[in-house]
Amino acid sequence: MKKVIEYYNTIAKEHDNIYKHLKYMRVVEFKVLRNEVKKEDLILDVGCGTGKHLLYLKDYSILGLDISIEMAKIAKNKTGKFIIVGDVQYLPFKSNSFTCVISFFGALNHTEIHKALKEIRRILVKGGVFIFTLANLYYIKWIIKSLLRKGWKNTVKAIKKKRGYITRIVDGKIIRVGTKFYTLKEIKNLLKRYNFHIKYTFGTNITNSPLDILIYKTFFKYFGGYIGAVAIKK
Ligand SMILES: C[S@@+](CC[C@H](N)C(=O)[O-])C[C@H]1O[C@@H](n2cnc3c(N)ncnc32)[C@H](O)[C@@H]1O
Repeated sequence: MKKVIEYYNTIAKEHDNIYKHLKYMRVVEFKVLRNEVKKEDLILDVGCGTGKHLLYLKDYSILGLDISIEMAKIAKNKTGKFIIVGDVQYLPFKSNSFTCVISFFGALNHTEIHKALKEIRRILVKGGVFIFTLANLYYIKWIIKSLLRKGWKNTVKAIKKKRGYITRIVDGKIIRVGTKFYTLKEIKNLLKRYNFHIKYTFGTNITNSPLDILIYKTFFKYFGGYIGAVAIKK
């Protein structure tokens, strides 16, 4: 976890600027939230980062949790919401405390997914909703780029590994963080294992254009940069 914390502490100030091009990923995430979150919900944003979703849901009862103190500070300043610095794998909340947990844009890709899901399930009430996205192993843009740059063999090898690094240059320094990738099939199996009912699955950053708003729940979701679900604790 030390490496993850270091990575996000280092990129915290640049984070929003680095990812500002992912406009339609946000449009789809916000659409899902608009459709699924209820006014009376008590919501936890796991891996809230700089607070994009806290701000979008500013009129709701919501708090953020992030492992990086620098990300948490930005979220706090931006939103005025209560932010806890902590690890999703060891959530500092009583069981059955929240009616909704959200986690977007890959916070869970850096964790031991079984620990994270167990914890999220524990803090949700029965009937509570879990809305999230994870980085997709079959992200089509990445596959095409990799085929062109590295060829067939290396691309297949990378896919088989199911893990890799996100690399960035900040202040002339190269920093990177390990990340795992998931398929929609794996996500569905994980949710079933932790006894969630899957309301629907979806994809974000498929084309990063307005088209995504029309296709985020269709077959094309399998090839988005991020894949996720709206799931209900049974
Ligand atoms: C790519 S950012 C996404 C932030 C935000 N959800 C968004 O959509 O902009 C991933 C965030 O997850 C946080 N994170 C990574 N591992 C975590 C963990 N084990 N527990 C809590 N937060 C974690 C990172 O510090 C980072 O802020």
